[in-house]
Amino acid sequence: MLFALNLHIVRPALRLSHIARHLSSSTRYTMSYPATIKAVGIQKQGGVEVIENLELPFPEVKPNELVIKVQWAGVNFIDTYLRSGLYPVTAFPLPIAKEASGIITELPKDESVLNSEAFKSRGFKKGGKVALDTYGTLQEYVTVPWDGNVYSLPEDVSTRLGAAALLQGLTALAQETESYNVKKGDNVLIHTVAGGVGLILAQIAKTRGATVIGTTSTPEKAEYAKAHGVDHVILYRSESTVDRVLELTGGQGPEVIYDGVGKDTFEDDLKMIKRKGTLVSFGNASGAVPPVPLTKLVQKNIKLLRPTVANYVATLEERNYYGPELFKLLASGEVKINIFGEYPFTAEGVRQAQLDLTGGKTTGKLLIKVADDV
Ligand SMILES: NC(=O)c1ccc[n+]([C@@H]2O[C@H](COP(=O)([O-])OP(=O)(O)OC[C@H]3O[C@@H](n4cnc5c(N)ncnc54)[C@H](OP(=O)(O)O)[C@@H]3O)[C@@H](O)[C@H]2O)c1
Repeated sequence: MLFALNLHIVRPALRLSHIARHLSSSTRYTMSYPATIKAVGIQKQGGVEVIENLELPFPEVKPNELVIKVQWAGVNFIDTYLRSGLYPVTAFPLPIAKEASGIITELPKDESVLNSEAFKSRGFKKGGKVALDTYGTLQEYVTVPWDGNVYSLPEDVSTRLGAAALLQGLTALAQETESYNVKKGDNVLIHTVAGGVGLILAQIAKTRGATVIGTTSTPEKAEYAKAHGVDHVILYRSESTVDRVLELTGGQGPEVIYDGVGKDTFEDDLKMIKRKGTLVSFGNASGAVPPVPLTKLVQKNIKLLRPTVANYVATLEERNYYGPELFKLLASGEVKINIFGEYPFTAEGVRQAQLDLTGGKTTGKLLIKVADDV
């Protein structure tokens, strides 16, 4: 399955008597790092009650890896899919976040890596700020290959902003570049436009000169969306999304629909999309879309995609393109990240964050504060 391809396997807890040997044989960091670290995660799938406080061995460090002291972790829907069982988990315990930021405490030990132009292109330095998107980040320290999904943060992007922007920002940017390249004059429909991904999609579409139509549930959320540049907001609980979208697009429908809701909105998307339009179904907030017969696409010759950011931003070249592009949008103020809330680094804090996210209560990003900024 696509989402299992780059699943970072968190090693099961070792017995403490094994840890000193484990660290001294595979790393040179034994003296300066704790034998065990705090984490919050799961040992089995289920309701939010399976989220627990964990104590894990300090991660094994390979010669090609950075060691990062985590300051912030981002909360994402994928955490809830992994916790609930919608997506598979291949190894437990799993610290239950897939996004973090912090400070590099160790560079790779492999000299050939350090001397390579590819490594130098990444801008990593000891003490430097980074943000990363990889499984198992809700712990005090993480390790990640230097050529993995990890990015140096520029001076003007804090670690708090980095963790808030990375996963949803890369998702929005890659989808508006590759799923459908949004351009001036397009009508773009974005469901859950006041959500984390939705607000970023909307702002990027505005930088391209598109007209943005968004759906949301409440007038309060609609105000957030308008404050982030959305041209028309449809309150789907009190008005017909299909009728309003057709009215706003002169009966034609939008060139592209970005849909992170999934099951509840898919059939209406087919009614609204423009002939030869592109339907990007990229999430399951209301549940997964059931299998779709190909003949459904014939009615308007539409393109249907079910992408994941992990397959758009997978190579070093793609990372070196999309990371800096995202940070430029943040630094210029063209994309502003709305941070909905910060939650404590405890099982209780993470359970609450997941309940708020899946309960549809949030506008923008939820963060876990793992350690103070330095
Ligand atoms: N494919 C990828 O690579 C990728 C990457 C990141 C995220 N995603 C997907 O993008 C979607 C949005 O993620 P996000 O983190 O930005 O979340 P979010 O949009 O901030 O939060 C989800 C929103 O979905 C709406 N919603 C509609 N029906 C819902 C239901 N039955 N239950 C819960 N919420 C419902 C709610 O907004 P309203 O009140 O406005 O309806 C809710 O606030 C998710 O499906 C996520 O899996 C995909």
